[in-house]
Amino acid sequence: MEKGIAIDINRHSDPHHYSHNDSHHHSTMTATMTATTATPTATRIGTTIGAVVEGVDFDNLTPEVAEHLNELVLEHAVLIFEGVHASEDQQERFARCFGEPYIYPLTRYANPDGDIWTEFIDTPDSPPEADVWHTDLTWVPDQPKFGILSAEEVPETGGDTMWADLYAAYDSLSPVMQEICENLNVMHQIGRNVLDPVERNAGFAAAAFLRDNYPEIKHPLVRTHPETGRKVLLLAGGFMKCVEGMHPEESDLVLKYLRNHINDPNFHFGWRWKKGDLGIWDERCTNHRGLANHYPQYRKMRRCTVRGSKQFSGI
Ligand SMILES: [Fe+2]
Repeated sequence: MEKGIAIDINRHSDPHHYSHNDSHHHSTMTATMTATTATPTATRIGTTIGAVVEGVDFDNLTPEVAEHLNELVLEHAVLIFEGVHASEDQQERFARCFGEPYIYPLTRYANPDGDIWTEFIDTPDSPPEADVWHTDLTWVPDQPKFGILSAEEVPETGGDTMWADLYAAYDSLSPVMQEICENLNVMHQIGRNVLDPVERNAGFAAAAFLRDNYPEIKHPLVRTHPETGRKVLLLAGGFMKCVEGMHPEESDLVLKYLRNHINDPNFHFGWRWKKGDLGIWDERCTNHRGLANHYPQYRKMRRCTVRGSKQFSGI
């Protein structure tokens, strides 16, 4: 738990699945993609979320293509583009299809004009640290809406990223439990599980900056996605501190149930990365975790994120 959350601050990691075939298929696709009329197509891989998209020319991301891709993200929540081998420029231009890049709080502390990139490099001396369900940054008032990962170097085995569908997490509850959840608010906080590694890696002043500038924040347990209008169960792993208004024992009981609920594999989607794959996901309706089962193998991922709306994050 602690390590996983820490990753979102300092070094993160993420995505993987179990399919795939074919680099030559993609080469063919790329070679035929010079025409500007191609429309990206998505093939659903997961049961409720997750699709592989083909037919995108990353050097020709027109407004029409961008709009279509945004619709695909909203429909599938997670999109995978195989064998893209995106440069930083390509990944940034891809991110800008959906909005302004988001700069992480700790990056902003180090440099207000800091860059948009976070690299997650797993080595024998730097174990993977994102193997816990979470959504990124529910403790900031301007939670990013999309995460984007490029698989720079991948292990021979493992290192998948898993996503959980928060629409399905809500839909699978009984009507009675849905009604209970809709009347609850949860306090979210950065917590020691983030601050401790920040202190170790970036120093006390950096941790103090985060603690002082990001007080706990209240979110409804059930939110309405601002673009799809669907209800999501807002689960956020260790960022959930307590249920507002409940006695501690009551709050602990509810949060324990919710943290277990996200483990239902019926609404999971996983991806085993191949080198050069690119993934994008909607932070507002998913949880994710980067499996640690490739340790001590080397793995390198490059992330950027897209800004969300303040209105959606707080109440
Ligand atoms: Fe994350």
